[in-house]
Amino acid sequence: MRALVVYESMYGNTERIAVAIAEGLGPDAVAVEVGAAPRDLPPEVDLLVVGGPTHGHGMSQPATRENASAHADRPVVSPGEGIREWIAGLRADRAVRFTAFDTRIKGPKLLWGSAAESAAKALSARGFQQAAPPASFLVGGPLGSPYDRLVAGELDRARELGRSLAALLPAPSR
Ligand SMILES: Cc1cc2nc3c(=O)[nH]c(=O)nc-3n(C[C@H](O)[C@H](O)[C@H](O)COP(=O)(O)O)c2cc1C
Repeated sequence: MRALVVYESMYGNTERIAVAIAEGLGPDAVAVEVGAAPRDLPPEVDLLVVGGPTHGHGMSQPATRENASAHADRPVVSPGEGIREWIAGLRADRAVRFTAFDTRIKGPKLLWGSAAESAAKALSARGFQQAAPPASFLVGGPLGSPYDRLVAGELDRARELGRSLAALLPAPSR
């Protein structure tokens, strides 16, 4: 595994985007739910891809996750900590490259905010090296799982992002 895709998701949209990015990255990538993601970055990871749902204009917080769970019609994908807490506790012995992504409501970023931008700032502040700009994938409606649906074409766009990120991975050593 050379690319680690870590995602947080309530209703499953960010999870689907994360899996599509990992598919695009190819066989050297794995997508891991944030609750199962390592706190110590394994030495073989060359690229970290971190994503979560936009809540309150940025990364989720305990209160927004509680709110999301209350609106859910089935158990949420990420019942524990989110990427905000995971990034804060992440340990690495080197400046690994990263990119961040999110899901957010379709509309102007100025109005809706972006968890990816917040995550990118947090990762940069921890000394990680941004390899590509934050990316947003759009859902169609406001709050609650019945309204949260990925806009058509977003999974294809996520696979395409994965393929472009694969070019950032160093050639495998022999
Ligand atoms: C409590 C809460 C707050 C939210 N705040 C925002 C927001 O500020 N901006 C935005 O674009 N979307 C917001 N959303 C919509 C989420 O971004 C959307 O539910 C999420 O992208 C769906 O991803 P998921 O299925 O992986 O949870 C919010 C959703 C919840 C539940």
